[in-house]
Amino acid sequence: MRERWLDGVEKRARDSLPAAVYRYLMQGAREGVSAAEAVSAWQSVRFVPHVLRDVTEVDTATTLLGTPVATPVGIAPTTLQRAVHPEGELAMARATAAAGSLMVVSSNAGTRFAEIGATGVSWWLQAYVPADRSLAEPLLARAVEAGAKAVVLTVDTPVVGTKYDGDNETIWDLLPGDVLRVNFDDGYDDRPGAAKATDLGVGDIAWLGEITGLPVVAKGVVRPDDARRCVQAGCAAIWVSNHGGRQLDRTISTAAALPAIASAIGPTAELYVDGGIRSGLDVMAATALGARGVFLGRLPVLSLAGGEQSVRRLHAELADELVEAMRLGGCTRLSDTPAIVSHDPGNRL
Ligand SMILES: Cc1cc2nc3c(=O)[nH]c(=O)nc-3n(C[C@H](O)[C@H](O)[C@H](O)COP(=O)(O)O)c2cc1C
Repeated sequence: MRERWLDGVEKRARDSLPAAVYRYLMQGAREGVSAAEAVSAWQSVRFVPHVLRDVTEVDTATTLLGTPVATPVGIAPTTLQRAVHPEGELAMARATAAAGSLMVVSSNAGTRFAEIGATGVSWWLQAYVPADRSLAEPLLARAVEAGAKAVVLTVDTPVVGTKYDGDNETIWDLLPGDVLRVNFDDGYDDRPGAAKATDLGVGDIAWLGEITGLPVVAKGVVRPDDARRCVQAGCAAIWVSNHGGRQLDRTISTAAALPAIASAIGPTAELYVDGGIRSGLDVMAATALGARGVFLGRLPVLSLAGGEQSVRRLHAELADELVEAMRLGGCTRLSDTPAIVSHDPGNRL
């Protein structure tokens, strides 16, 4: 029997990474309910495939805020990539550029934005906003200077959700100082007002757009009313996410949240999703339910344990699986996929 390479990603990372690093990547907040159900939520989506269609040529390409990408799959922001592999964000960027994909770089990255930009990858900055907004300005300016093409504002993190490590060693016990937050000014965390803004509001969307001159994406939306507020405030895209189950535990799955948000915003903004995407079938389910972009968090960072080659393989495997899924569904373009998803709660036609 053929073995699926993607099924081994988690196991290879578990075998090769320090236990505390692996636990950090995998953990969800509190009881881990949202983290645990994310994958099965996509698996519960059902297709009603077309047959008797010419699927010789299948086109998976699209654009994300004007950036051409080979498939709708992009890399979500994750911290501590250099705790997973010494080349960290650089290996992720090179592999992602080679795949013709796009990478969102965490503001907490351990590699300087200029070095990431120099790989030639198409990239967006993920930002958290501090209580004192002016403290964010140098980091934002560095990202613009290094070629970021959009700012992804994470809106689901007024405070960081609690995770449990029991009596075990944590990633924070292991870390050398230079793998995190290298794009901030020295001494940033000690300044008054450096903590995450608990008063984040729609006004911050316009502020970010003005100060950077870049399109703003709101990441972490799961409600249609919030999605509409973000679009009205000027967001160019809405990113449906529950932060991989790492913020409010028991938040609904993104597969469940996506269809109502797609209906609420229509064509007024682009729509992306992440959380529990582990296969080409999941990617097709996401585009079928209205997502233009589909982002991956744990899968690429777990793959990164095997370095750049392993992230390249991840991109290739998912692209192959997506092409096969589209062929079997009778779809030759991503825009064909919404027609083959079942919206019936009993998964009938
Ligand atoms: C180890 C790890 C670190 C993360 N760091 C960030 C971050 O710095 N900023 C952010 O907006 N989201 C962060 N996320 C959330 C991801 O961007 C994404 O929303 C989530 O991982 C998607 O779910 P998935 O891991 O099931 O693909 C992180 C997730 C993980 C697993």
